[in-house]
Amino acid sequence: MSYRYLGNKTRLNDWIVGEIARVLPLGSSVADPMCGTASVSMALARAGYSVIAADALTFPVIHARTRLLAKQAPAFKALGGYDKALEWMRLATPVEGYFFQEFGEAGKPANGRAPRLYFSATNAAHIDGIRAGIRKLSTSGAITKIEHSVLLHHLIMATNKVANISGTYGYFLRKLSRPALQSLTFDPIEFEWTSGCHEVIQGTVEEHASTLRVDAVYLDPPYTKRQYAGNYHILETLAREDEPIAAGDGGLRPWTDQASDFCYRRKAGQAFRETLERLTVPHVFISYSEDGQVQEDELLSILNDYGKVTLLEQPYTRYRSNGRVKNGSVLERLYHVEAY
Ligand SMILES: C[S@@+](CC[C@H](N)C(=O)[O-])C[C@H]1O[C@@H](n2cnc3c(N)ncnc32)[C@H](O)[C@@H]1O
Repeated sequence: MSYRYLGNKTRLNDWIVGEIARVLPLGSSVADPMCGTASVSMALARAGYSVIAADALTFPVIHARTRLLAKQAPAFKALGGYDKALEWMRLATPVEGYFFQEFGEAGKPANGRAPRLYFSATNAAHIDGIRAGIRKLSTSGAITKIEHSVLLHHLIMATNKVANISGTYGYFLRKLSRPALQSLTFDPIEFEWTSGCHEVIQGTVEEHASTLRVDAVYLDPPYTKRQYAGNYHILETLAREDEPIAAGDGGLRPWTDQASDFCYRRKAGQAFRETLERLTVPHVFISYSEDGQVQEDELLSILNDYGKVTLLEQPYTRYRSNGRVKNGSVLERLYHVEAY
């Protein structure tokens, strides 16, 4: 699953899971409560762990449900099978609805701003058509919860591919880019059977920490000030299937209630403390970059209060959102905290 997502660990999965496997026997359980694209969750599942995946936002939960819980293609009885479900998405009747008006090149945003060029008019109407179709299927009870997630997963992936942005949804490009002029695509995904017993939940790690009954927790918090809720507002709207007020020129949904404390320099240290205080697991692994909001010495002093800390490092090439390499490589850090 290729996905432009801040902090996506796909390239580091082998290293992260390899380090976890040094201390945790296969077959144990691991929680990934800030799962994002669910790439680490999936790598852990492939390695033979049982995984609890979670995130504060809704679209990562959709990805995690699809990737971890759909161990084979769902039956999609109402649509005639998985391939037919994809065909149904390709052929959905366009609708000039919320996405067309708020995020399409030919739209008329409700707040009177200029059309927002996130999508071509054709793609925006296609997205609206699929959203309307999914809503109908789910309200009539024609699809299961997993089938519902798989359809939304495909819609999010397809939408992301044609979004007229330079990496995140903070703003759109001034002219429709070449990818934005392509049609939405719905190619089959590979459903992977994994041996573990997995669970997917939604909410903040601060909320869930005390309830996680697992052998280890892997934390991958945001490390810059960029809030995921604002930067991926369109994916969140697709996942929530709602039509929120689209504010300002960029059309952001109200997102401050989903703001992460890990993104604020003043609050990030406290967010780490709260999370660690509530966890009752023997092992905690934390990915955190050397240029994070919490400086290395402060993080070490926080972690040392909870257990014996081992710092593992791996050189990692940083990419800009346009795919170019940014300032060579940084050291990616993985902290292992063995609870006292
Ligand atoms: C660095 S990304 C995780 C990337 C993920 N490991 C991957 O490979 O795609 C951080 C994730 O943490 C989530 N997040 C931020 N604050 C959170 C919180 N307090 N509780 C739970 N999730 C949070 C964000 O929504 C985002 O998906």
